[in-house]
Amino acid sequence: MAMSYTRKLILLGPPGAGKGTQSERLVEQLGIPQISTGDLLRANRKAGTKLGKKAQGYMDAGELVPDDLIIAMVKERLAQTDAQRGYILDGFPRTTAQAEAMVENDIVVERVVNLEVPKEALVERLSGRRICRECGASFHVAFKPTRKEGVCDRCEGETYQRADDSPAVIENRLDNFAAQTAPLIAFYGERGLLQNVSGEGEMSDVYQGILDALTV
Ligand code: AP5
Repeated sequence: MAMSYTRKLILLGPPGAGKGTQSERLVEQLGIPQISTGDLLRANRKAGTKLGKKAQGYMDAGELVPDDLIIAMVKERLAQTDAQRGYILDGFPRTTAQAEAMVENDIVVERVVNLEVPKEALVERLSGRRICRECGASFHVAFKPTRKEGVCDRCEGETYQRADDSPAVIENRLDNFAAQTAPLIAFYGERGLLQNVSGEGEMSDVYQGILDALTV
Protein backbone atom coordinates (compact mmCIF):
# COMPACT_ATOMS: atom_id res chain seq x y z
CA MET A 1 0.00 0.00 0.00
CA ALA A 2 1.37 3.46 -0.94
CA MET A 3 2.05 5.57 2.13
CA SER A 4 0.68 9.05 2.44
CA TYR A 5 2.76 11.85 3.95
CA THR A 6 2.02 15.28 5.31
CA ARG A 7 3.22 18.05 3.00
CA LYS A 8 3.42 21.19 5.13
CA LEU A 9 6.21 20.64 7.54
CA ILE A 10 8.97 22.18 9.58
CA LEU A 11 12.35 20.53 10.08
CA LEU A 12 13.53 21.75 13.45
CA GLY A 13 16.91 20.98 14.95
CA PRO A 14 20.23 22.50 15.95
CA PRO A 15 22.92 23.55 13.47
CA GLY A 16 24.37 20.40 11.94
CA ALA A 17 21.40 18.17 12.82
CA GLY A 18 21.00 17.18 9.15
CA LYS A 19 18.09 19.41 8.12
CA GLY A 20 19.64 20.26 4.75
CA THR A 21 20.88 16.71 4.13
CA GLN A 22 17.50 15.13 4.81
CA SER A 23 15.57 17.84 2.93
CA GLU A 24 17.30 16.85 -0.31
CA ARG A 25 15.70 13.38 -0.22
CA LEU A 26 12.34 14.66 1.00
CA VAL A 27 12.16 17.10 -1.94
CA GLU A 28 12.68 14.20 -4.34
CA GLN A 29 10.20 11.85 -2.71
CA LEU A 30 7.44 14.29 -1.78
CA GLY A 31 7.75 16.65 -4.77
CA ILE A 32 7.58 19.80 -2.64
CA PRO A 33 10.24 22.53 -2.30
CA GLN A 34 12.74 22.91 0.52
CA ILE A 35 12.61 26.45 1.83
CA SER A 36 15.84 27.02 3.72
CA THR A 37 16.21 30.49 5.20
CA GLY A 38 19.98 29.91 5.44
CA ASP A 39 20.17 29.11 1.70
CA LEU A 40 17.93 32.07 0.81
CA LEU A 41 20.16 34.40 2.84
CA ARG A 42 23.35 33.00 1.27
CA ALA A 43 21.82 33.48 -2.20
CA ASN A 44 21.05 37.11 -1.28
CA ARG A 45 24.63 37.60 -0.13
CA LYS A 46 26.01 36.11 -3.33
CA ALA A 47 23.76 38.40 -5.40
CA GLY A 48 24.79 41.42 -3.29
CA THR A 49 21.20 42.44 -2.43
CA LYS A 50 20.32 44.91 0.34
CA LEU A 51 19.03 42.00 2.44
CA GLY A 52 22.23 40.04 1.82
CA LYS A 53 24.35 42.98 2.97
CA LYS A 54 22.26 43.44 6.12
CA ALA A 55 22.40 39.72 6.96
CA GLN A 56 26.14 39.24 6.41
CA GLY A 57 27.48 40.39 9.78
CA TYR A 58 24.94 38.41 11.79
CA MET A 59 25.56 35.21 9.84
CA ASP A 60 29.35 35.34 10.01
CA ALA A 61 29.16 35.84 13.78
CA GLY A 62 26.65 33.01 14.24
CA GLU A 63 23.91 35.40 15.39
CA LEU A 64 20.33 35.27 14.18
CA VAL A 65 19.25 37.74 11.50
CA PRO A 66 16.45 40.08 12.79
CA ASP A 67 12.96 38.55 12.71
CA ASP A 68 11.35 41.21 10.49
CA LEU A 69 13.84 40.61 7.65
CA ILE A 70 13.38 36.85 7.85
CA ILE A 71 9.58 36.94 8.00
CA ALA A 72 9.34 39.22 4.94
CA MET A 73 11.75 36.96 3.03
CA VAL A 74 9.79 33.77 3.86
CA LYS A 75 6.41 35.32 3.01
CA GLU A 76 7.74 36.28 -0.41
CA ARG A 77 9.12 32.78 -1.00
CA LEU A 78 5.92 31.04 0.10
CA ALA A 79 3.88 33.12 -2.34
CA GLN A 80 5.62 31.42 -5.28
CA THR A 81 3.72 28.80 -7.28
CA ASP A 82 5.81 25.79 -6.30
CA ALA A 83 4.99 26.28 -2.60
CA GLN A 84 1.22 26.10 -2.98
CA ARG A 85 1.05 22.30 -2.59
CA GLY A 86 3.41 22.06 0.33
CA TYR A 87 6.86 22.96 1.71
CA ILE A 88 9.68 21.80 3.88
CA LEU A 89 10.66 24.71 6.10
CA ASP A 90 14.35 24.25 6.98
CA GLY A 91 15.77 26.67 9.51
CA PHE A 92 12.50 28.60 9.92
CA PRO A 93 10.95 29.45 12.32
CA ARG A 94 13.89 29.92 14.64
CA THR A 95 12.36 32.17 17.31
CA THR A 96 8.99 32.29 19.05
CA ALA A 97 8.32 35.61 17.28
CA GLN A 98 8.81 33.89 13.90
CA ALA A 99 6.47 31.04 14.90
CA GLU A 100 3.85 33.55 16.03
CA ALA A 101 4.23 35.49 12.77
CA MET A 102 3.40 32.27 10.90
CA VAL A 103 0.15 31.97 12.81
CA GLU A 104 -0.71 35.64 12.14
CA ASN A 105 -0.04 35.17 8.42
CA ASP A 106 -2.03 31.91 8.18
CA ILE A 107 1.02 29.88 7.18
CA VAL A 108 -0.13 26.31 7.77
CA VAL A 109 2.03 23.76 9.60
CA GLU A 110 0.84 20.17 9.74
CA ARG A 111 3.83 18.60 11.45
CA VAL A 112 7.11 19.61 13.07
CA VAL A 113 9.98 17.11 12.96
CA ASN A 114 12.52 17.78 15.68
CA LEU A 115 15.88 16.17 14.83
CA GLU A 116 17.77 15.25 18.01
CA VAL A 117 21.58 14.97 17.88
CA PRO A 118 24.05 15.26 20.80
CA LYS A 119 26.34 18.29 20.88
CA GLU A 120 29.64 16.42 20.26
CA ALA A 121 28.25 14.95 17.02
CA LEU A 122 27.02 18.38 15.89
CA VAL A 123 30.46 19.91 16.33
CA GLU A 124 32.09 17.02 14.43
CA ARG A 125 29.57 17.32 11.59
CA LEU A 126 29.84 21.09 11.23
CA SER A 127 33.64 21.19 11.41
CA GLY A 128 33.95 18.63 8.59
CA ARG A 129 31.23 20.00 6.32
CA ARG A 130 32.12 21.18 2.81
CA ILE A 131 29.73 23.00 0.45
CA CYS A 132 29.81 23.40 -3.32
CA ARG A 133 30.25 27.04 -4.39
CA GLU A 134 28.23 26.45 -7.55
CA CYS A 135 25.23 24.26 -6.68
CA GLY A 136 25.23 24.37 -2.85
CA ALA A 137 25.45 20.57 -2.43
CA SER A 138 26.68 19.58 1.02
CA PHE A 139 29.38 17.00 1.85
CA HIS A 140 31.44 15.90 4.83
CA VAL A 141 35.15 15.09 4.78
CA ALA A 142 34.57 11.83 6.70
CA PHE A 143 30.83 11.00 6.55
CA LYS A 144 30.01 12.01 2.97
CA PRO A 145 33.27 12.65 1.14
CA THR A 146 33.40 13.88 -2.44
CA ARG A 147 34.89 11.38 -4.92
CA LYS A 148 37.66 13.88 -5.73
CA GLU A 149 38.92 16.12 -2.92
CA GLY A 150 37.65 19.68 -3.21
CA VAL A 151 35.42 18.92 -6.22
CA CYS A 152 31.62 18.61 -6.09
CA ASP A 153 30.29 15.18 -7.16
CA ARG A 154 27.17 16.73 -8.63
CA CYS A 155 28.44 19.64 -10.77
CA GLU A 156 32.26 19.56 -10.44
CA GLY A 157 32.22 22.98 -8.76
CA GLU A 158 34.75 23.84 -6.07
CA THR A 159 33.85 22.90 -2.48
CA TYR A 160 34.61 25.19 0.47
CA GLN A 161 34.11 25.46 4.22
CA ARG A 162 31.39 27.89 5.36
CA ALA A 163 32.81 30.84 7.35
CA ASP A 164 30.37 30.07 10.18
CA ASP A 165 31.66 26.49 10.44
CA SER A 166 34.77 27.66 12.37
CA PRO A 167 35.04 26.41 16.00
CA ALA A 168 34.21 29.71 17.78
CA VAL A 169 31.24 30.48 15.55
CA ILE A 170 29.91 26.90 15.85
CA GLU A 171 29.87 27.35 19.67
CA ASN A 172 27.98 30.61 19.33
CA ARG A 173 25.43 29.10 16.91
CA LEU A 174 24.80 26.19 19.30
CA ASP A 175 24.38 28.60 22.25
CA ASN A 176 21.96 30.72 20.24
CA PHE A 177 20.00 27.62 19.28
CA ALA A 178 19.62 26.66 22.95
CA ALA A 179 18.56 30.17 23.97
CA GLN A 180 16.38 31.26 21.04
CA THR A 181 15.21 28.23 19.04
CA ALA A 182 14.89 25.36 21.54
CA PRO A 183 11.79 26.99 23.14
CA LEU A 184 9.97 26.11 19.89
CA ILE A 185 10.11 22.44 20.90
CA ALA A 186 7.67 23.20 23.75
CA PHE A 187 5.73 25.67 21.56
CA TYR A 188 4.90 22.97 18.98
CA GLY A 189 4.63 20.21 21.60
CA GLU A 190 1.81 22.13 23.28
CA ARG A 191 0.03 22.41 19.94
CA GLY A 192 0.25 18.66 19.28
CA LEU A 193 2.39 19.07 16.16
CA LEU A 194 5.79 17.85 17.39
CA GLN A 195 7.48 14.58 16.43
CA ASN A 196 10.90 13.90 17.92
CA VAL A 197 13.17 11.91 15.59
CA SER A 198 16.69 10.67 16.31
CA GLY A 199 19.15 12.42 13.99
CA GLU A 200 22.00 10.12 15.05
CA GLY A 201 23.27 7.19 13.02
CA GLU A 202 23.24 6.48 9.29
CA MET A 203 21.68 9.15 7.06
CA SER A 204 19.29 6.55 5.57
CA ASP A 205 18.07 5.47 9.04
CA VAL A 206 17.43 9.09 9.99
CA TYR A 207 15.50 9.50 6.74
CA GLN A 208 13.29 6.52 7.54
CA GLY A 209 12.60 7.98 11.00
CA ILE A 210 11.48 11.23 9.37
CA LEU A 211 9.19 9.45 6.90
CA ASP A 212 7.59 7.53 9.77
CA ALA A 213 6.99 10.82 11.57
CA LEU A 214 5.33 12.31 8.47
CA THR A 215 2.94 9.44 7.81
CA VAL A 216 -0.72 10.43 7.84
P1 AP5 B 1 21.48 27.78 8.27
O1 AP5 B 1 22.11 27.70 6.96
O2 AP5 B 1 20.03 27.46 8.41
O3 AP5 B 1 22.35 26.96 9.29
P2 AP5 B 1 21.98 25.99 10.52
O4 AP5 B 1 20.60 25.94 11.04
O5 AP5 B 1 23.00 26.39 11.47
O6 AP5 B 1 21.98 24.64 9.91
P3 AP5 B 1 23.10 23.99 9.11
O7 AP5 B 1 22.92 24.26 7.65
O8 AP5 B 1 24.43 24.34 9.68
O9 AP5 B 1 22.84 22.45 9.49
P4 AP5 B 1 21.88 21.34 8.92
O10 AP5 B 1 20.98 20.89 10.02
O11 AP5 B 1 21.23 21.74 7.62
O12 AP5 B 1 22.94 20.19 8.70
P5 AP5 B 1 23.49 19.53 7.34
O13 AP5 B 1 22.44 18.71 6.70
O14 AP5 B 1 24.21 20.53 6.50
O15 AP5 B 1 21.64 29.27 8.88
C1 AP5 B 1 22.85 29.99 8.76
C2 AP5 B 1 22.69 31.37 9.38
O16 AP5 B 1 21.66 32.11 8.69
C3 AP5 B 1 22.23 31.39 10.86
O17 AP5 B 1 23.30 31.24 11.76
C4 AP5 B 1 21.58 32.80 10.94
O18 AP5 B 1 22.55 33.81 11.02
C5 AP5 B 1 20.89 32.90 9.61
N1 AP5 B 1 19.51 32.39 9.64
C6 AP5 B 1 19.02 31.33 8.94
N2 AP5 B 1 17.72 31.14 9.21
C7 AP5 B 1 17.36 32.10 10.11
C8 AP5 B 1 16.15 32.41 10.78
N3 AP5 B 1 15.03 31.70 10.58
N4 AP5 B 1 16.16 33.44 11.65
C9 AP5 B 1 17.26 34.20 11.85
N5 AP5 B 1 18.44 33.95 11.26
C10 AP5 B 1 18.50 32.90 10.38
O19 AP5 B 1 24.56 18.53 7.98
C11 AP5 B 1 25.75 19.01 8.56
C12 AP5 B 1 26.93 18.10 8.18
O20 AP5 B 1 26.72 16.81 8.78
C13 AP5 B 1 27.07 17.84 6.67
O21 AP5 B 1 28.42 17.84 6.35
C14 AP5 B 1 26.45 16.45 6.46
O22 AP5 B 1 27.06 15.77 5.40
C15 AP5 B 1 26.72 15.78 7.80
N6 AP5 B 1 25.65 14.85 8.21
C16 AP5 B 1 24.31 15.03 8.10
N7 AP5 B 1 23.64 13.96 8.59
C17 AP5 B 1 24.59 13.09 9.04
C18 AP5 B 1 24.53 11.79 9.65
N8 AP5 B 1 23.36 11.16 9.89
N9 AP5 B 1 25.71 11.19 9.97
C19 AP5 B 1 26.89 11.81 9.72
N10 AP5 B 1 27.01 13.03 9.13
C20 AP5 B 1 25.87 13.67 8.79
